[in-house]
Order: sequence, then structure tokens, then C-alpha cells
Amino acid sequence: MSFNQVYQYNFPTTIRFGAGVVNELAAYLTANNLERPLVVSDPNVVQLDFFKAITSGLAAKGISVEVFSKIHKNPVKSDVYLGTDAFDATNRDSIIGIGGGAALDVARAIVLRVHHREDLFKYDDLIGGDVYVTGDVPHFITIPTTAGTGSEVGRSAIIADDDTHQKKILFSPKLLAKIVFADPLLTMDLPAHITAATGMDALTHNMEAYLAKMEHPMCEGIALEGISLIHQSLEDAVLKPDQENKSKMLIASLMGAVAFQKGLGVVHSLAHPMSSLLDTHHGLANAVNIPYGMTFNIPGSEHKFKRIADVLELKEKTGEAVVSYLHGLNERISIPRRLREVGVNESHLDTLADLAIADFAHPNNPRPVSRNDFRQLYQEAL
Ligand SMILES: [Fe+2]
Repeated sequence: MSFNQVYQYNFPTTIRFGAGVVNELAAYLTANNLERPLVVSDPNVVQLDFFKAITSGLAAKGISVEVFSKIHKNPVKSDVYLGTDAFDATNRDSIIGIGGGAALDVARAIVLRVHHREDLFKYDDLIGGDVYVTGDVPHFITIPTTAGTGSEVGRSAIIADDDTHQKKILFSPKLLAKIVFADPLLTMDLPAHITAATGMDALTHNMEAYLAKMEHPMCEGIALEGISLIHQSLEDAVLKPDQENKSKMLIASLMGAVAFQKGLGVVHSLAHPMSSLLDTHHGLANAVNIPYGMTFNIPGSEHKFKRIADVLELKEKTGEAVVSYLHGLNERISIPRRLREVGVNESHLDTLADLAIADFAHPNNPRPVSRNDFRQLYQEAL
């Protein structure tokens, strides 16, 4: 990188990390004079024992809790409007997001909407809408329940149009949580296939961030350590979960999301269209595509793959060795090797390629990706 330029680096979120930190929530709210949080989650998480323990624990301390969980797996604008109605109707003073990426994205979009009431997509970052995010935002707290998206430390929310399913990005540094309570105990009972898919999403964030073309040595350092932690823990977190491997995965997913402010790449652009078109789980879509996307990325980035291979403790310090590691890891944690095994067929490939070239992630890929490249990568992975 050039040290003759000026850069700006932002790492401002307070993260309380470790087993049991979620029990600090009531004291934190009280210390910040917050008495009426809107808790935003998803329909599955609200059924779980730990969720009920969190909300009843707050109620026992005299905190008024309103839960909003009517959200879609891939969140849409009307989810955000309904959640904001709930915030207004019950006179809330703060927002707590508890869940995976979808719940935290909706929570973050409600944080925006509370004091920004133009059409939600006016704030779409891809059309420069972030400049309209000028007002106050309510106090925002995040509590992740998966180790994957890292949305808890993010500053953007991906929300789709209800009708067109086109994804918009709401972005502003104001949308960062004030504090994250990252408690690995909340991830202990995740089903193995979710641990596997979300874990591969975290690995994809760290690898794509490390390779992304923007200069950012701090993010690169974090990404390499994130890759190392996932190498140490993902397989065990899937096959024989314990507090240590779950903790490593949770911090590595946070690190991936901190690192990907540097950018993502071709793998996310291959994955996003599968969620839009076929409702494929985001982590699963990344997991199946990552070996193919990384193969594409080797030319020109050999020096970086050498460092990734180092971190992965591979004998051969090459991109090809990294790719075969990814295939092997996927196999050991029961991720399918082929797109056809997750519902993609030949007739989808042109539409997927059209959507992928329009996606926001690949412009930061180290090697430029054309529509033909996307078509070919899908074909290879099929
Ligand atoms: Fe992702």
C-alpha cells in the first residue's frame, strides 16, 4: 500500500464478549436510563428458552419489554414499517436486536426509520441515500445468536422490496450498535447444519475481506486471525460443539464483519442471487460457491493465498491448496459440493449471472468479474 495517502479507519463498537455476558443487559439498560426497549427478533428465536430468559429477566428488573418478530427470512421493507409501528405504538426508547442476520438487519433498519420517515429506500446507499441519514437514532444494542453474519458489528442493513425482491442497502455509521453482547452460550444449541452454513459465511467474510482490493492493513490483520480461528474451530463446532469452539467461531464471525468494511468479492456476488431467486440460505450459498470463487481469485493474488495457506497450516503454500482445503472442510461439515444439490439447475444460470453482475459485492474483488465469468463459475459449480 501507499503510505503517502490519508486513510480513515473506524472500529468504534463496544463488544462485551464471553459466556454469560447477556446477563449484563438489564444493568446496562438501567445505567443508560433506558426503560422501554423494543426487542426485535425472528419467529424462531422468540420460541427458544434463552430468549424467554432474556425478556423475563428484563421484566423482573422493572424494564418494559415489547417484542417484534414478524419478519421474513430474507427481510422486506414492510417488516421494517411494521416494526416501526410497534416502536411508535408502545412509546419505546431503545432497540435491542437479538438473532441472526435477518433479525439484526430489520432491527437496524427500524433504528434508521424511527427518525427518518421518507420512503425507506430513499436511504439506499447504492444511490447515495446515506447522505440523508442526518437525524438522531435510538440507542441500539445487538445480541447475536449465530456465528456467521457478524451483523451485530455492522453499519448496514440489507432489506428487499416486497414486490420486486430487489435488495437495497441502508448504510450509515449512525446505525452501528452502541454495544454488542456477544455470548457464545446463546449459540450452543444451534442445529449442526446452521452452525456449518453460518460458519462458512464467516469464513467467506474473512477470506474475501483479506483479498478485497481496497488498502486496509488493519482489516487484513483481523481477517487473517479470523481465518485462523475458524480453521481451529469450525469443524468441531459443527461435529462436537463446546464452549471453546463456539466462542472461537463467535469472535471470528465478529472479526469477519469488522474486516469486510474493506469489501467483499466474487463469492458473495455468486451467493446473493441464489437467495433472491431461490431463497437459498445465505451462508449455504457462500459455502457451496467459495471453492469455485477462490479458484477464480488465484491469478494475481498468489502472494495473498500464500499467507492464507500459512494460516491454514497447509503444506503447499498455494491457492490451489487453499481451494482443496475448502472442498475438504465443506465435505467434513456436510456442505454439498455442487449447486445442483441445493436446487440450482441449468435453466437458472442465465438469470443468476444477470443478477450477479448487478450485485454490489464484486466491484471490490481483487480480479474483475464479468457476466461471462459469473455464468462460467455457476456452470463449474453446478
Ligand atoms: Fe455474508
